Amino acid sequence: MKSVMRRALLAMSLLAAGPAMAQQFPGRTITIIVPFAAGGPTDTVSRLVAETMGRDLGQTVVVENAGGAGGTIGSQRVAQARPDGYTLLLHHIGMATTPSLYRRLAYDPVGGFETIGLVTEVPMTLVAKKDFPATNLAEAIAVIRRERENLNYANAGIGAASHLCGLLLMKAVDAPMTTVPFRGTGPAMQEILSGRIDLMCDQTTNTTEQINAGALRVFSVTTESRIAALPNVPTSAEAGLPAFQVSVWHGLYAPKGTPAPVVQRLSQALQVALRDERLVARFAELGTTPVAQERATPEAHRAFWQADIAKWRPIIQAAGQYAD
Ligand code: MLT
Repeated sequence: MKSVMRRALLAMSLLAAGPAMAQQFPGRTITIIVPFAAGGPTDTVSRLVAETMGRDLGQTVVVENAGGAGGTIGSQRVAQARPDGYTLLLHHIGMATTPSLYRRLAYDPVGGFETIGLVTEVPMTLVAKKDFPATNLAEAIAVIRRERENLNYANAGIGAASHLCGLLLMKAVDAPMTTVPFRGTGPAMQEILSGRIDLMCDQTTNTTEQINAGALRVFSVTTESRIAALPNVPTSAEAGLPAFQVSVWHGLYAPKGTPAPVVQRLSQALQVALRDERLVARFAELGTTPVAQERATPEAHRAFWQADIAKWRPIIQAAGQYAD
């Protein structure tokens, strides 16, 4: 009770100070918490956004990784941080599944956050270790249906994008595999490159360069159309599995109670970042694009997030698979 009271009083004092505070904001380094391990797709996107936002804000924006539990450890850190604009969260579709998958969280997975703006929607790719015994999706499906739990499938914990994509794949091919969880697909990538993991469904921001280097087998991209960075990779529909479609939206959040003028300033800086030529070029190399400017706003982000929570809730309840 005491900490809730303290947070409410703090939020009220910050709110009262809002306009004056916004003028001085930011007066020091800002931290973006990434709820997955370093070197993975969400980390890659966050470091590009942080560097570019920092230039507009005139302050350093650093990234801190707090991986584990499908992204809920890092999310809790931010929900319980001081609502002053200096601790932010960059997270993805996991923010839409967590409210249904986790029933006993120590923080409010929706009410605990202010939205700042959407960032990008990243396609996913189904990849396998280099010597996986299949050269296209049809052959891979045959191997999965024959080998089932003998195959290791990597993901970043329950509620992670790689987990959801795995659920979609195993449902679409009607065959289970053995799931191996990691603190992020960054570390999982090392295991698939070493051949200890057989398959993974991961974001192009983590797979494109390995695929183009010939270090991984790739069977499909999970979007409606092919992507420029991987022109030879068929879509799931082209490869015969139209139901296997998903992309990973990302958004930026602040703790609940962060003053509106501060949220607005951060949203402005995000919009500038998403127009930055170097960021746009690097995103393209990694198979993604920034969202349109009008989606990088607190209102558009909130509306999209609410709609996605409502989309995933019945799917998760029907599956009856909960994280706790
Ligand atoms: C990561 O950055 O490791 C990923 O976003 C994890 C995931 O959700 O699959």
